[in-house]
Amino acid sequence: MASTAMLALLVVLLLPPITLAGDVPGFRTALTRMQPYSPGKYSAAVHRDRHRLTFLSYASALGAGRAAATNSSTSIQALLEYGAGGYLMNLSIGTPPFTFQAIVGTGTDLTWTQCAPCTKCFPQPKPRLFQPASSSSFSKLSCNSSFCQSLPTSFRTCNATGCVYDYRYGKGYTDGYLAAETLTIGGKSFSNFAFGCSTENGLDNSLGVVGLARSLPLSLVSQLGVGRFSYCLRSDDGASPILFGSLAKVTGGEVQTTPFVRDPADPASPFYYVNLTGITVGSTDLPVTSSTFGFTQTGSGGGTIVDSGTTFTYLAEAGYAMVKKSFQSQMGNLTMVTGQRAGSFDLCFEVNGGDVTVPKLVLHFAGGADYDVPRPSYIGAVRVDSQGRATVECLLLRPAKEDMSIIGNMLQMDLHVLYDLDGEKFSFAPADCANI
Ligand SMILES: *[C@@H]1O[C@H](CO)[C@@H](O)[C@H](O)[C@H]1NC(C)=O
Ligand SMILES: *[C@@H]1O[C@H](CO)[C@@H](O)[C@H](O)[C@H]1NC(C)=O
Ligand SMILES: *[C@@H]1O[C@H](CO)[C@@H](O)[C@H](O)[C@H]1NC(C)=O
Ligand SMILES: *[C@@H]1O[C@H](CO)[C@@H](O)[C@H](O)[C@H]1NC(C)=O
Ligand SMILES: *[C@@H]1O[C@H](CO)[C@@H](O)[C@H](O)[C@H]1NC(C)=O
Ligand SMILES: *[C@@H]1O[C@H](CO)[C@@H](O)[C@H](O)[C@H]1NC(C)=O
Repeated sequence: MASTAMLALLVVLLLPPITLAGDVPGFRTALTRMQPYSPGKYSAAVHRDRHRLTFLSYASALGAGRAAATNSSTSIQALLEYGAGGYLMNLSIGTPPFTFQAIVGTGTDLTWTQCAPCTKCFPQPKPRLFQPASSSSFSKLSCNSSFCQSLPTSFRTCNATGCVYDYRYGKGYTDGYLAAETLTIGGKSFSNFAFGCSTENGLDNSLGVVGLARSLPLSLVSQLGVGRFSYCLRSDDGASPILFGSLAKVTGGEVQTTPFVRDPADPASPFYYVNLTGITVGSTDLPVTSSTFGFTQTGSGGGTIVDSGTTFTYLAEAGYAMVKKSFQSQMGNLTMVTGQRAGSFDLCFEVNGGDVTVPKLVLHFAGGADYDVPRPSYIGAVRVDSQGRATVECLLLRPAKEDMSIIGNMLQMDLHVLYDLDGEKFSFAPADCANI
């Protein structure tokens, strides 16, 4: 008898605790960069960003449609994530837990993975695909569930399969159905987590997405009720910490804070918009006005987002032109490089292995938050010699294709950034990410 009771107790102790929505536990896990950054080899990253920008502008254009829709419960959110320059997180679903890697999507609400049986799935490393039939906690979500109702009507079908989504943009698409499962992340388990089981995929590199978009019903941060999360991206190739709930806090004397803002023409946008109010290059304050990086006056568009899936930083044309001109005029004693040796960048200079002094770059955000960008986050070696020493360095900021500006992940390196959804604010401080 006693031993049976002991055994039962042991089993209970060994099972991960199931947390119900409402509790707000703190937990942490790690992010790994999908692609390494190698000095001299930025052209692949530029190429990946090009796809990312197309995706973001598509998602932003959907926002225009979202604004036109009268019913916010049928608002359009980006379900996909093209984040090939971004980060991967490990998470588990099911009982017993099935672990998979997924792209962290700060512009996406739905968390999804590939499920068997699959009509067309990308090959996944072992243990292959999630098998719903092998999990005791799996259930399909019915069409009348609030999560199903929160999917855009144009991408949703209800039939005998359940709540079916079919989302596509350009050549990319993912189709599947909504389900509920036990989610295990950072050692904590949450029951009845709504996610997408994709059974047909046509999106390069995407085995799944972790949806960390702003508080939308399906977003992981909303479902787990964590209220805030933070991450610190390492500039070396080590795993970068990401923290949720009460563990997510940025401390120290150097913390800067700016409010998140919303696009007045598209308040339901999944993107994390900040108000970039000024830029200082060296000793020059650029003549930035509220229209340089702000929302466009007419309809949806413009604005500045913080994005984990874009590598470089993209500034709206007029703002980029100011930055470039100011760097050029303060770098008169350097030999500029153009043409093929500059690759995809347009402000490059000879360094010949030496450590060249460049003007400081400071970004100013509403509320008095200043970001004194570390040199390696905005100047990079685009050409190296046979010993790996830099011969040509370039400004890693680039002109945006559309009017939306994007603060990419290189600019966020060695910085602990906090997305405080409850407080509607964004904080950051320089940090040694390996020791967070
Ligand atoms: C995620 O899981 C993979 C495969 O098990 C492992 O190689 C990798 O180190 C894990 N990543 C992190 C950040 O824990
Ligand atoms: C908005 O959506 C809700 C829930 O789906 C529905 O009951 C309502 O009729 C819709 N309103 C409009 C104006 O379409
Ligand atoms: C949804 O529909 C199912 C079956 O039709 C029903 O059993 C369930 O109670 C409904 N749920 C809600 C939230 O209405
Ligand atoms: C439900 O709709 C999807 C998408 O149109 C389709 O692929 C699937 O076969 C349908 N399921 C059933 C049972 O008809
Ligand atoms: C951004 O900040 C500027 C200066 O404080 C202000 O004029 C502008 O209205 C702000 N924009 C938004 C969208 O809050
Ligand atoms: C260019 O001039 C600045 C300021 O006069 C100086 O600090 C820097 O070392 C010079 N750079 C080169 C490559 O000569």
